Formats: sequence, C-alpha cells, structure tokens
Amino acid sequence: MSGKVKAKIGPSILNADLSQLSDESQRLLDCGADYLHLDVMDGHFVPNLSFGHPLVKCLRAKIKDAFFETHMMVSKPQQWITPMADAGVNQYTFHIEPVDDVPTVCRKVKEAGMKVGIALKPGTPVEVVTEYIDKVDMVLVMTVEPGFGGQKFMESMMNKVSWLRENYPAMDIEVDGGVGPSTIHCCAKAGANMIVSGTAVINSSNPANVIKEMKDSVNEALGFWYLK
Ligand code: DX5
Ligand code: ZN
Repeated sequence: MSGKVKAKIGPSILNADLSQLSDESQRLLDCGADYLHLDVMDGHFVPNLSFGHPLVKCLRAKIKDAFFETHMMVSKPQQWITPMADAGVNQYTFHIEPVDDVPTVCRKVKEAGMKVGIALKPGTPVEVVTEYIDKVDMVLVMTVEPGFGGQKFMESMMNKVSWLRENYPAMDIEVDGGVGPSTIHCCAKAGANMIVSGTAVINSSNPANVIKEMKDSVNEALGFWYLK
C-alpha cells in the first residue's frame, strides 16, 4: 500500500425502489456516485433479507462500468464468492464475525478477481484487523448494527476509524450506517474516505448536492490528515 486515498461516495440502494433498481442506480451514478454499495442479507447473520447474486448479475447487465461493492451480511461469506465474481462484482466486503478462517476467505476473494473488504459490527474491536491487514484492500467500520437502512448513526464508532487512519494512512476505510450531511463531518474528521449513504441520498430531493457535500467534506478532512 502506498500513496493517498481518495474520497469516494457509494450510495446504498437498500431503501431505494428495488422494482426500479437499474434506473435508480443509474440515477445515483449520474448524480456523482463513485460506486454502488449493494447490501446482501441472508436472514441469518442479520434479521433481514435483501437480494443475492442473481439480482446483482441482472444489474450488471444494465450497468456495465460502475464499481460494484457487495456488503455481505451473511453467515457463510465463503459460499458466495464465485457467484458474486461471476455476477460482475468488483469488491467483496464480508463480515469477519462468523468466519473461522478469514485469511482463506480473503485469498479466495482475490483469486476470484475481486478486491477484499472486511467489515466490523459495532461490538467488534478494531484491533482484530491487525492480523489481516496485509490481506485486505479496505476495512468497513459499521456505524449501525447491520440489517436495516435508516438507523441512527453511532458516533462512538469514530474512535475505530481514527485508530485505523492513524495506523494505516494509505488504506481505504469505509463507514456505513446513518451517514448523511448531518454526520459526514465526524466521519471525515476521523479519517474515513469511503462513504456509504442510503436513506440520506435516496430520500433527498437533490441527491447530487448531498453526494457533493459529503465528498467535499471528506476531501477537505483528508487534506488535514496528509498534512500531519
Ligand atoms: C445496513 C446496511 C447499510 C444501510 C445504509 O445494514 O449495511 O448499507 O443500508 O443505509 P442508511 O444510510 O440509511 O443507514
Ligand atoms: Zn451496507
């Protein structure tokens, strides 16, 4: 890892009108989204169901170029690596909590041609990433309990983000859950550079403005981090 990270905004389409998924996704990309964050839930790791690789594959057929991240809120992330790679996923972000052998899952994701992200639930201490850091492209710090959009942002998670940024200045660090114009400043100041935002973007009458505002905030804060 070397160099500086960039601000990237990835809308979560979980609370969008899923019957219009490709139109909604294209609209968000046209509004300046840098990537799409696709929330996959199995009804087991989290108490909710969303969608799986068949839908992602259909979306990829309509949207050829965008960067797709799947946030795998599932009990067996190793089970879906090949189907998601076949569906055209660029980054496979999985929760480490239910996984016994994290390095093997990381290796299989890479062998399948995808970037690797590891995700931490709010109760998981951030230091656990130390042993995996050379195997991953990104760490996701959840700022809500995974499972549902529209929850309240947990500011107490910012200690994890700043710890990661202090220790890994060139790593992609993502936040997800309750992030929008009113909470972006905390995330940016702590050092997050990949910003997932669901309801704040989807429900806005001006998503382009919301995306720009968040991106500007992160870029400004990153400037301070790299001056340190
Ligand atoms: C929660 C999901 C999030 C969520 C974000 O389990 O991982 O990606 O949909 O939505 P908001 O921004 O509304 O919290
Ligand atoms: Zn998510």
